[in-house]
Amino acid sequence: MAAFATRSAAFLGLAAVLCVLVGEASAQQLSPSFYSRSCPNLASIVRSGMTSALQTERRMGASILRLFFHDCFVNGCDGSILLDDTSTFTGEKNAGPNANSARGFEVIDALKTQVEAACRATVSCADILALAARDGVNLLGGPTWSVPLGRKDSRTASQSAANANLPGPGSSLATLITMFDNAYYQNLVGQRGLLHSDQELFNGGSQDALVRQYSNSPSQFSADFVTAMLKMGGLLPSSGTQTEVRLNCRRPN
Ligand code: HEM
Repeated sequence: MAAFATRSAAFLGLAAVLCVLVGEASAQQLSPSFYSRSCPNLASIVRSGMTSALQTERRMGASILRLFFHDCFVNGCDGSILLDDTSTFTGEKNAGPNANSARGFEVIDALKTQVEAACRATVSCADILALAARDGVNLLGGPTWSVPLGRKDSRTASQSAANANLPGPGSSLATLITMFDNAYYQNLVGQRGLLHSDQELFNGGSQDALVRQYSNSPSQFSADFVTAMLKMGGLLPSSGTQTEVRLNCRRPN
């Protein structure tokens, strides 16, 4: 773990940003055992698929993590980023923060094909993405965690919501915090930040200092990172969103 933490400053910085951005998880119940009867081999199928994807290109672990982030921040983790544009539908793939930079869709397709072969019409694309992101992080030397499951896939997606909710490269920290969750911002103002790293950065700590601190304390990093990933993975679509278990991650059924 120590080697992982010191070698991966950029990754740690992203973790710090993640800790800043992510607010409360939704109340809906997800559970790591959601598919334990309906798709008992799910975790091992995703793990071995991610292992071979990373053998082809190690960067894919990072790319899939980003895909999960960009899915979850636009109306929750509902696989919306995976929908292809068509002549009559414009989704999130070509929103500014995704166009020409979101990658790994073919890896999710391959995982989905294998999961469908084992357990037809059972496991959502959103859950496959959540597991794949966990495995990508862990296979690159990061922590592991148990992934709450039971998400459904959206039947639609919104390019404008993606443009509004995903961070642009030029956004200021204050904009980023207020953009995502005002209650969360108020907690920071009241010195009640949800994560140690959030409050520290908000109080004026520099990201460099936080990266140094995490480099010196891999266990603190892992704990904060996992907490943030669980919060992010708990973001669910707003009520009223039509959902399903998509058969092909690129289009609604
Ligand atoms: C302030 C918020 C953030 C901003 C402004 C931001 C911006 C960016 C940009 C501009 C890139 C390069 C994309 C390209 O290839 O052209 C990138 C890559 C990446 N981001 Fe973020 N990001 C933010 C937060 C996050 C968070 C919270 C995570 C993790 C959950 C994350 C994970 C990643 C990863 C893993 C990559 C590399 C992806 C790859 O190599 O395919 N980012 N980000």
